[in-house]
Amino acid sequence: MADIARLVRDIADEIAAIPERGDVATYIPPLATIDPGHFGLCIVTVDGAVHAAGDTDEPFSIQSVSKVFALTQALGKIGDTLWRRVGREPSGTPFNSIVQLEREQGIPRNPFINAGALVVADVNLSGHEPRVAIGELLRFVRYLADDDTIAIDEKVARAEQATGFRNVALANYMKAFGNLTHPPELTLGVYFHQCAIAMSCRQLAMAGRYLMHGGLYEPGGARVVSPQRARRINALMLTCGHYDASGDFAFRVGLPGKSGVGGGILAIAPGQASIAVWSPGLNENGNSKLGTLALEKIAEVTGWSVF
Ligand code: DON
Repeated sequence: MADIARLVRDIADEIAAIPERGDVATYIPPLATIDPGHFGLCIVTVDGAVHAAGDTDEPFSIQSVSKVFALTQALGKIGDTLWRRVGREPSGTPFNSIVQLEREQGIPRNPFINAGALVVADVNLSGHEPRVAIGELLRFVRYLADDDTIAIDEKVARAEQATGFRNVALANYMKAFGNLTHPPELTLGVYFHQCAIAMSCRQLAMAGRYLMHGGLYEPGGARVVSPQRARRINALMLTCGHYDASGDFAFRVGLPGKSGVGGGILAIAPGQASIAVWSPGLNENGNSKLGTLALEKIAEVTGWSVF
């Protein structure tokens, strides 16, 4: 067994020294000002040990990583009927693409592309005010992370709202196909706010534990989801969690992972570890450049893999 505490420190040191860090997302103005020099890493292992290095306690915008928790919430509400409205196939397209929706009758390929996440947000809205749905998601994430300080960055939420024209288009397009049940602006309100949840690597790795523990909060603890559901969420993270770079992520890292344009990635080694990494610079697919590299190194040294 690798010395995880040492591994985490070594990787943080190694990554800090890399000059080419990728580009921060600029299409949401508050993200454009984040220093690409940040790097945070946290690994929670199956025995509950927490190993952290770098900017591990600094909150960042989790963006699309929130889609994992929102999906879990939606499956809790309507179970497998969700799959009548969202597919389970990799899209091979960027996160905000609209091209497949016309050919596929407004049914998004999977819950992690934006169109799919909007359907999930629509399910989570379930006839309530957006603030009720988002409050519920926030409480769920706080419970998972065992941390009541997790909050929504309202500045980011407002910027999402002000610049999210593609998401508005996606929501309206699906509404035209009858695949949104609420007014698009309400569904979008939920989606924009979930993307604006701010969490640190430590909080994110803690929140991912149920996916390492086969659906349990912790060994011997409360059941968050069934083992089958945890396995399926992990499968979707592996096949769809990095959009048109999901194959490359599986090839390089070999673990279920979900990225966000804030530069965060949550990766799960089932039965072994929940890992959160943050490096704001993105690669050409909109996924954290050095975060992916860090995960590749962790997988290489530990041998953690689903293959
Ligand atoms: O929908 C958007 O544009 C963003 N708020 C979230 C996108 C995101 O994180 C994509 N992931 N890499």
